[in-house]
Parts: sequence; C-alpha cells; structure tokens
Amino acid sequence: MQLEKKLEKLSIYYLENPLDRKFPEIIKSELGIEINAKYGTIPLIHPILVAPGQLTREKGQIERIKKAGYSGCILKSVVGEDEKGDCSMIEYRKKMTFLKTVYEKEDKEGTQPIIVWNGRADTRNLKEYLEFAQTVFPYQNDDFFISISILCHLPTPKEEFKKEEWIYTTKKLYEIGYKIFEIDFCPGLKNEKELIEKENVLRWYREIPEIIKSVSEEILVYPKLMNFDFGIDFQIKMVEETIKGKADGITIGNRFFKQEINSAWGGRELKERNIQVIKEVKKISENFPISGTGGIYTGRDVFDYIKAGADNVQILSYILGKVKKEFLKKKGDKFEKTLYELFFNPEHGFLKLLVSGLAPEKS
Ligand SMILES: Cc1cc2nc3c(=O)[nH]c(=O)nc-3n(C[C@H](O)[C@H](O)[C@H](O)COP(=O)(O)O)c2cc1C
Repeated sequence: MQLEKKLEKLSIYYLENPLDRKFPEIIKSELGIEINAKYGTIPLIHPILVAPGQLTREKGQIERIKKAGYSGCILKSVVGEDEKGDCSMIEYRKKMTFLKTVYEKEDKEGTQPIIVWNGRADTRNLKEYLEFAQTVFPYQNDDFFISISILCHLPTPKEEFKKEEWIYTTKKLYEIGYKIFEIDFCPGLKNEKELIEKENVLRWYREIPEIIKSVSEEILVYPKLMNFDFGIDFQIKMVEETIKGKADGITIGNRFFKQEINSAWGGRELKERNIQVIKEVKKISENFPISGTGGIYTGRDVFDYIKAGADNVQILSYILGKVKKEFLKKKGDKFEKTLYELFFNPEHGFLKLLVSGLAPEKS
C-alpha cells in the first residue's frame, strides 16, 4: 500500500482512538518513519513538547500531557530562593489578573491564538514549588521528558550575582532528581530599564549556566533566549556568550514584549524571528542543541523549526488559547486534539509533510 494511503488509515484510526505513548512506534512499523527526537542528550519519543507556562503547573496537567501523547514538558518557572528564604525576584511571583486570547487580523478562522496576560512565573514559594516538583517527578521516565525552568537573582550592571539563590534552588530540585534546567529570561524583564543593559544581559547568559552547573556535573542547562529589538547580531551574541559559559543548549526563544499592550506577544512574527535566529546559530555552532518555541500552530510550523535546526519544539498558546475552528478529532481533551492536528492533519500535519518527501535530513 502506498505511504499516503497507510497514513490516511492511521489518521482515521487515531481520530477514534487515543494517541497514547505508543503511536511513534506504530508510525515506525506502519510507515517506516522514525519521529524520535532529542533534548540535548536525552531521547524523546517525538519532537513535540509542552512549553513552560500555565499548562505545566499542576499535577493533573502533567498527567494529561503524558496521557495525550506529548513527548514531555517543561514545568512552569520557579522563582528561586536562598537557604534563608530570601527571594530577590519575588515580584515575578505576582498573580495574574487577566488572561485572554487574541488573533492577528489575517487569522480569519481563529486558528492561531495569541495569549495576552499580565502574569509572570510560578506564584508559589520554593517550599510549595518543591512539593509540586516532587509530586510530578515520578511521571518522568524513558518515554516522558520533564525539565525545570528557573529564575533567580538577575543583577543590575553594578551588582554581583546572589549565587546562593541559584545554587540553593538548583540543589533542592536536583535532590528530587531533576537534571535539566531551562533559564527563564522572561519577556517582562525587557521592561526593566535598570537591568537591561547589553553588557549586563550578556553577563547573565555567560555566567548563570556555570553557576547552575556548579551544583553537579550531571546538570544540563538551556537558557531561554530573550527576544530584543537590538537586531539579530545581538541575539547571536547572547548565544555566543552562553556557549562560552558552558550552556548545554539554548531554547529559542521567548515571546517579545510589546510596550503598547504591556504584554508579551507571539504568533507568526515570533516564529519568523526565531527561525531566522536558529539558522544563524547553526552557522556559528552546528552541533549546539536547540529547542524551538514560539508561534507553532501546525505540523508545518513544527517542520519549519526542525528544518531550520531545532532538535525539538515547545508549544503553549495553541493548546492554551481558544481555537475557533473545530478540531478534527472530537474525542479527548485539548491536549489530545491539538497533538492530533499537529501530527495528522491531512493538509499540514507533520506526518503528511514527512510522507510527501519533504522530510528534514536525519543526522
Ligand atoms: C500564559 C503564558 C505563561 C508563560 N509562562 C512561562 C514560564 O513560566 N516560563 C517560561 O520559560 N516561559 C513561559 N511562557 C513562554 C512559553 O513557554 C513559550 O515559550 C512562548 O509562549 C512561545 O510559545 P507559544 O507561541 O507556543 O505560546 C509563558 C507564555 C504564556 C503565554
């Protein structure tokens, strides 16, 4: 049977049945296509993860993400503390007072939700966050990836790092078993004129990975790239500095801050910016691991990120926001419906593109 026909049969099957954790194996045996991927040195069953945010801060969500068939997730960013409980970034625990979905004018069908909100990192203190991290740790295994996202003290140009915050928080999470840490350089920071000075930002990207990694050699660090308007050269400079600082990879990149609406923004524009940066990073360091995130709403978007050089992708707004057009899959929850669209949509699903011979070359 032709591959297209076999894919069509599988797509019909999964319309009715859950994707679960075995579908990548079925795809391999039925279509001969391997969709496995990596996060740094860690194998993933496929390249689609759930990004850190409002969908990764409760046990029930992590359970549902795993059940739906996502390859893993990054937990909502913890705002760290030192041993005495001091927390210099405490305002990043601010509770949100609004969150809404908006659409670009061109998005007539409402299939590409963008989230506008005024929240920040996780609102819990370290003790509460550690309890959460402990509870969800057992979900992590060979076929389900979980990592941490962390934000601790970021010095102004005149200050030194309060290293104890970074070290104590990392140590506590490492003791639970977590070994992979993204650094959440969140878009809201861009608003803080005192902190955002080019040399100072470069110092963060260079020095924080080493501080975190001083806790254990086993730890892998992925800083998340902030999206500034300083131009592509500065975006690449941040990556270069973090490579110097012994980061193990980079997540490209966080949403960009829009002053007019006092919120971060994403969508198509974010995807385009990120893909441009990923291609440039590949030129300066071909093997530096990259996780891509931003403006992913279809399998084609996943495909574009991977083709540009990302090893995997992280998605949030497509799952969290309101998608006005009905999903093809009627059964299951939103995690299941979105993952089905991303892989099996007959026009722009990731598998359709692979089967049509547009496959990215496997290294
Ligand atoms: C409501 C909301 C909360 C978020 N919280 C976090 C967070 O805690 N840590 C983090 O690193 N990124 C956070 N992000 C950024 C997302 O992880 C993601 O990288 C970004 O939204 C781009 O992906 P998307 O276009 O699929 O949403 C958040 C984004 C949104 C919209």
